[in-house]
Amino acid sequence: MKEVAIITGASGGIGFELALLFAKKDIDILLAGRNKHKLEIAKNTILDKYNINVFCVAADLSLSDGREAIYNCVTNNHLTVTYLINNAGFGDYGLWIY
Ligand SMILES: NC(=O)c1ccc[n+]([C@@H]2O[C@H](COP(=O)([O-])OP(=O)(O)OC[C@H]3O[C@@H](n4cnc5c(N)ncnc54)[C@H](OP(=O)(O)O)[C@@H]3O)[C@@H](O)[C@H]2O)c1
Repeated sequence: MKEVAIITGASGGIGFELALLFAKKDIDILLAGRNKHKLEIAKNTILDKYNINVFCVAADLSLSDGREAIYNCVTNNHLTVTYLINNAGFGDYGLWIY
């Protein structure tokens, strides 16, 4: 059975670069992020270079429905998840006040 890596926040940035590294190692990928269009672009970019299976879940992972969408994708496609890169998030900065 083929290994699968779940990579959250994979529609761009660090998550997408990590997805390319897994694809290069012939590991199937489940990409997650909110923006479906960006996920499709990421998926097609990967499939242009690598012969693997890429699953996309467009979901807001701050919501339980979003997290459930990943669970449903894994179970419906009978995926064997070996890796979880829980990368989705955002940067923030400001003054430290204490
Ligand atoms: N870059 C840095 O220097 C740095 C430094 C320290 C830590 N980090 C952390 O490393 C991670 C990646 O950073 P990055 O620079 O690659 O950020 P980025 O380019 O902004 O990418 C963030 C990714 O997370 C997804 N995302 C954001 N909120 C989400 C949500 N609620 N549900 C699902 N997906 C969500 C975005 O996709 P959508 O917009 O489509 O949802 C995008 O794919 C972040 O967690 C960041 O805080 C980055």
